[in-house]
Amino acid sequence: MEMLVNKNMVWNLMVYFCLVITTADVIAVSGSSSQQQSSKEADPNANSINQFNHELSMPKFAEPIPNVTVSVGRDALLACVVDNLRGFKVAWVRVDTQTILSIHHNVISQNPRLTLSYNDHRSWYLHIRDVHEQDRGWYMCQVNTDPMRSRQGYLQVVVPPSIIDKETSTDMVVREANNATLICKAAGYPEPYVMWRREDGDDINYNGDSVNFIDGEVLHILRVSRLHMGAYLCIASNGVPPSISKRVTLKVQFPPMLTISNQLVGGYIGQDIKLECHTEAFPTSINFWTTEKGDMIVSGEKYEAISTDSGYNKYMSLKIRKLSPQDFGSYKCVAKNSLGETDGFIKLDQIAVPSRPADDIIDEPDDDVKDYNVKSEMGDKIDKSFETMATNNNSSLSSLAARSPHGNYSDWLVLAVCYWVIVSVAAVLFDGNS
Ligand SMILES: *[C@@H]1O[C@H](CO)[C@@H](O)[C@H](O)[C@H]1NC(C)=O
Ligand SMILES: *[C@@H]1O[C@H](CO)[C@@H](O)[C@H](O)[C@H]1NC(C)=O
Ligand SMILES: *[C@@H]1O[C@H](CO)[C@@H](O)[C@H](O)[C@H]1NC(C)=O
Ligand SMILES: *[C@@H]1O[C@H](CO)[C@@H](O)[C@H](O)[C@H]1NC(C)=O
Repeated sequence: MEMLVNKNMVWNLMVYFCLVITTADVIAVSGSSSQQQSSKEADPNANSINQFNHELSMPKFAEPIPNVTVSVGRDALLACVVDNLRGFKVAWVRVDTQTILSIHHNVISQNPRLTLSYNDHRSWYLHIRDVHEQDRGWYMCQVNTDPMRSRQGYLQVVVPPSIIDKETSTDMVVREANNATLICKAAGYPEPYVMWRREDGDDINYNGDSVNFIDGEVLHILRVSRLHMGAYLCIASNGVPPSISKRVTLKVQFPPMLTISNQLVGGYIGQDIKLECHTEAFPTSINFWTTEKGDMIVSGEKYEAISTDSGYNKYMSLKIRKLSPQDFGSYKCVAKNSLGETDGFIKLDQIAVPSRPADDIIDEPDDDVKDYNVKSEMGDKIDKSFETMATNNNSSLSSLAARSPHGNYSDWLVLAVCYWVIVSVAAVLFDGNS
């Protein structure tokens, strides 16, 4: 290293020496001419006027050296425009390292990525191909006047963000209620801004707050819950496109949990019926149904067991076809994973075969009565009422009346008839006695 530096210094010294010699030449030439002029004219003001003229004739920078910003790997161009250069020479110098890069038409630097171009002896361009981060810094354009004149421009080298994989978390598995820490490290220039968010865009319950993203490299979740399970993105950006992200999945392990919304189910003989269970578990559980006796139920002609997954949720259903008396009793749904096992019972009870729809139930018992109404003959009606009473040995007057939509009317008819019978019988008896 030291050897290199020394070499560089020696080289620079040599270059400076060259510059000084050429400058001395130029000054000597211009100096001799001005001396000739001043000797001709004895004006005391001549000196200042000459100095003014001299200044006008000196090289001048036409514009400041613009700052240049370039992404690493691209090419950069630094421009230096000098008016009135005459016989003076332009050199490009790297300020931080005090290295001369070019003098006049020659590239001095041994950096193969540097080239030089010029126009009209006025514009001097320093080209840097495939810019590296080390190229960032101040560059000086200098003219070998005495004293030397110079301007500086800054070459900004920006680097798009990248994720430092070996310092960044990979997919993680945590037991529920433990803490989880996801870390994301990114590089780039300027230093990237890093944040975490869920891939699905949902909010994150972050230690009590519900947030959409978390600033910074570290995502530290206290007491992880199953709701934290999912894919997370670490996103790094620094204004230099493209931004970058890394996907890290967080898996939360917990033993199975089971919920049954309907623990008592009624079914009647011949019916097809469905029993349902919901479970949650991670790792995914093995779920099955058993009978009351503990025999595992397999799908077939009689049973159809279905389970559908959605994340760590599982919905399981058991369809029992054509219930027969021996199908009533308890059924058990079971969920098992590496962390535990749970089960729940559903009781299937027999209920009476439901009758036909409600309309029929109301109309059915008074079909007879209806028939008579249709005939609408007073006499018929009375006879039929008696018939009804006679055939239906179980029914009382009131029950018949209650079932008839025309109950009150029938009551009065019946009472009237009874009254008429009693009176007639009494009259006959009375006649017979007397
Ligand atoms: C160039 O950038 C520097 C800071 O990096 C700033 O001080 C200077 O004014 C800039 N020059 C121009 C011409 O923009
Ligand atoms: C989780 O972190 C908190 C605070 O840093 C600590 O008090 C607690 O003991 C940690 N819990 C576990 C299970 O490591
Ligand atoms: C009463 O009706 C039932 C059927 O509803 C019948 O079995 C029974 O023999 C009847 N009794 C009389 C006395 O008619
Ligand atoms: C007879 O009456 C009893 C109760 O009063 C009832 O349970 C039964 O169903 C009735 N039978 C008929 C045939 O109406």
